Amino acid sequence: MILVTGSTGLVGAHLLYKLVSKGEKVKAIYRSERKLEHVKNVFACYTDDYMPFFESIEWVQGDILDVPSLEEAFKGVTYVYHCAAFVSFEPDKYQLLRRTNIEGTANIANLCISNSITKLCYVSSIATIGIPSNHNIITEETEWNAESNNSVYAITKYGAEIEVWRASQEGLDVVIVNPGVILGAGIWRYGSAGLFKKAHKGIKYYTSGSIGLVDVQDVVDVMIALTKSTIKNERFILVSENWKYQDFLQTMAKSVNAQPPLKMASPLLLQLAWRLDWLNHKLRGKRRQLTKQLVTSLTTEKLYDNSKIKTFIKYEFKKVNESLTEIGLLYQKQA
Ligand SMILES: NC(=O)c1ccc[n+]([C@@H]2O[C@H](COP(=O)([O-])OP(=O)(O)OC[C@H]3O[C@@H](n4cnc5c(N)ncnc54)[C@H](OP(=O)(O)O)[C@@H]3O)[C@@H](O)[C@H]2O)c1
Repeated sequence: MILVTGSTGLVGAHLLYKLVSKGEKVKAIYRSERKLEHVKNVFACYTDDYMPFFESIEWVQGDILDVPSLEEAFKGVTYVYHCAAFVSFEPDKYQLLRRTNIEGTANIANLCISNSITKLCYVSSIATIGIPSNHNIITEETEWNAESNNSVYAITKYGAEIEVWRASQEGLDVVIVNPGVILGAGIWRYGSAGLFKKAHKGIKYYTSGSIGLVDVQDVVDVMIALTKSTIKNERFILVSENWKYQDFLQTMAKSVNAQPPLKMASPLLLQLAWRLDWLNHKLRGKRRQLTKQLVTSLTTEKLYDNSKIKTFIKYEFKKVNESLTEIGLLYQKQA
């Protein structure tokens, strides 16, 4: 029996579909009935006749911060995929980020140990890998730099990884994946799939940096392959290609038949924009859209090396152009 956390999120829902469509027995943790609609939307990207797959899942209501609610979920489980996390770059969400990402992951890791789980697969992020100042290519060995201007999200995902490594020291077999920005369909309101909605509404500017991109289907296929394999206590960057923001935002806009951004946001404009965003938040209580750390990330050239996973499991990633075209078509059909 397999247990999936974060099942109502982009990665969790695509992973669930891959697992149940292969005939695996799966339990999934969810928090609210309302969010189960997300899972159905994701399943509908694969087949119109998705209900038998949805109903084959054993749904367990629980919260990764509420250990008693998880104990029932762990009964009879051998493999755990931990995809639940709070994804936010808003500095004033730091405490909730710490609780969900670090404490929540510690709870899952501890339950894996106490339930003698065969292997834990944890979804981390490229955000937990440092960025070398010399523009060198980034690998799994590139060290986290606590002195950098790290986002609150990155700090807490890094803390979560530490909890997973701690559990591995205590005897639990683990694999960690570090995906770049994940391209996937079905949950259009927020998260990385929400970028297609933003592109459809129209993005005016692109920025000067670059970004590592990967298809959600590659992420879940690799997670399954690693979990089934004898590989343990390793982490893997999951990036298909490194793209400039200009190419990414323009191609994504075209995929949803929207006007592509034609102007680059200058450093001066961005410096002004994040300060205005902060002021808007302080004076009018508006949600932060742009932070100092996000501006740094949007304007930094980052080159991620994906050769480790290709060597370990001989994997070939889907081309980003292909992913953007496919997801753009699904957006136009569903949203
Ligand atoms: N999307 C990306 O581009 C990207 C890139 C790199 C890494 N990642 C990582 O990949 C993982 C999955 O991301 P995603 O894009 O699928 O995120 P997502 O769509 O925001 O989904 C997050 C999931 O976590 C669940 N969750 C949050 N707090 C929880 C709690 N206290 N107890 C139980 N469940 C909780 C959410 O449940 P509700 O639906 O109830 O809120 C949802 O199912 C995360 O670890 C993220 O850090 C994502």
